[in-house]
Amino acid sequence: MGAGIAQISITAGHETVGREVELPLAERARATIERYVGRSVEKGRMRAAERDDALARLTLTTELSALGDCDLVIEAIVEELVPKQELFAELDRITRRDAVVATNTSALSVTEIASATSCPERVVGMHFFNPAPLMPLVEIVRAELTADGPVETGYAFGERIGKTPIRCHDTPGFVVNRVLIPLLNDCVRVLDEARVTPEDLDTGLKNGAGWPMGPCTLVDLVGIDVHVHASEALYEKTREPRMAPPPRLVAMRNAGLLGRKSGRGFYRYDES
Ligand code: 3HC
Repeated sequence: MGAGIAQISITAGHETVGREVELPLAERARATIERYVGRSVEKGRMRAAERDDALARLTLTTELSALGDCDLVIEAIVEELVPKQELFAELDRITRRDAVVATNTSALSVTEIASATSCPERVVGMHFFNPAPLMPLVEIVRAELTADGPVETGYAFGERIGKTPIRCHDTPGFVVNRVLIPLLNDCVRVLDEARVTPEDLDTGLKNGAGWPMGPCTLVDLVGIDVHVHASEALYEKTREPRMAPPPRLVAMRNAGLLGRKSGRGFYRYDES
């Protein structure tokens, strides 16, 4: 997600600092960005000079302090509350007081993340959808103490990078995941109940409900670990049975079948 967000930012003309924990991971993200941006040139959607300018706007670092001068920081680390709170406490110390600090969390509480900072007023949710460069939506999430300014900064940035932002409050799953996560869980339960194959379930939802990709393909794309974690977080908050991850998905996650990123989920994916 981080690479996708950085890609959108540089192609929209913003100087962007990408911070990873290890340089090889950052270089891998750069390679992915170069591949997709390069493809736009091959397809005639971008000129070579524009590609070069866009790529030159990306600086990679492992140092958190390199974010000290940014106007907007968008966090997209592991979906766990404690590491996010630790990071936000650190960002609180190193970022400018007028900077907006955003989290791309899928299902955690922005308010709880913001509580780790001394200035929760400048913390906002900016929730992008997978794959970030292609999906138009970004949810701009107002936490309990977020001030108006940071909400509007997040919204305006979303528009400037060519997305379609919507504003919402910090409730479990915000808008889309509140609906999509239980729906995908229902889809996985139907696999066993109706004894249908993943291929046929995908064909069903694509051809019978107009989905752009079937639910099994979508869960593979999102990441089975990410989906299970988001389901658990929503179940913990709402106690609605449909939010709980289906045992089949938990077993897949435990077996290391994480979807596209691990090479195998409901489907198999080759290295490329
Ligand atoms: N970055 C940049 N470009 C990319 C890309 C990426 N990550 N992935 C693919 N592309 C490019 C492709 O290379 C292709 O380029 P080309 O035209 O030069 O060949 C172009 O984008 C179009 O790719 P596709 O042919 O695969 O595009 P489709 O028309 O099939 O659409 C899709 C792909 C937009 C992903 C569509 O299938 C879709 O809308 N699927 C549903 C996705 C969805 O629901 N996402 C939300 C998940 S939930 C979520 O994210 C919440 C989170 O909290 C978990």
